[in-house]
Amino acid sequence: MKSSVLHIVVAAGSGSRFGADLPKQFCDMNGIPVLMHTVESLRQSQTGEVVVVLSSDMVELWKDLCEKHNYDSPEIIIGGKTRWQSVKNAIAAKGDDAEIISVHDGARPLISAVLVRKLVECVAGGDRAVIPAVAVTDSLRKVNSDGSNEAVDRRLFYSVQTPQVFDGNLLRMAYSEPESALFTDDASVVENVGATVRVYPGEPTNIKITHPMDIAIAELIQKGLRS
Ligand code: C5P
Repeated sequence: MKSSVLHIVVAAGSGSRFGADLPKQFCDMNGIPVLMHTVESLRQSQTGEVVVVLSSDMVELWKDLCEKHNYDSPEIIIGGKTRWQSVKNAIAAKGDDAEIISVHDGARPLISAVLVRKLVECVAGGDRAVIPAVAVTDSLRKVNSDGSNEAVDRRLFYSVQTPQVFDGNLLRMAYSEPESALFTDDASVVENVGATVRVYPGEPTNIKITHPMDIAIAELIQKGLRS
């Protein structure tokens, strides 16, 4: 890869929806913590440096896990109260001059190295913002504030994944603007400064671990992908 690429893995969330003692990114998945699978997939893409963003109270736990699994940790950056703040901290600490910056959820361990390469190649080839997304398969229904509801055309809707990959200058500029409650991912942050986002076919297997059941599903998917 000719351009310099920085992969930011955000893993500073507390995983309140997950409900376990341990945030989901540190839970065991086929014998290895979720976050190690995530970092490994990005490293296997051989596209650039990987850094992890952790909350300060989880750093010791992560270091202990790395020692236990004889794993070489990427550089650690301390995250913030929100995902936006965590990404901002990583850009401030490491993203000064990277030509391409990707942001990936630590809780998406099944991303393929092939897709990472393809997304990075899109930005190296001139796209300024590219995100993986998959068509929704469930029927969708809009529930209005008055309690009424109506069917909507699901062909118009895609479920957005990470890594989301950006031109470095664009992401740095977008993150110099104030945070908004409407930001749920980095694509919404760059859109806020007028950028056009390219949607690229994602992978149905690239699930985000959110509920305890997702670990069991991810383990099965991973075994299936390996066989
Ligand atoms: O909460 P949600 O699953 O949407 O979080 C997406 C990702 O952002 C997770 O990998 C989580 O660890 C990360 N995050 C973070 N800092 C926060 C909140 C979330 O790095 N303050």
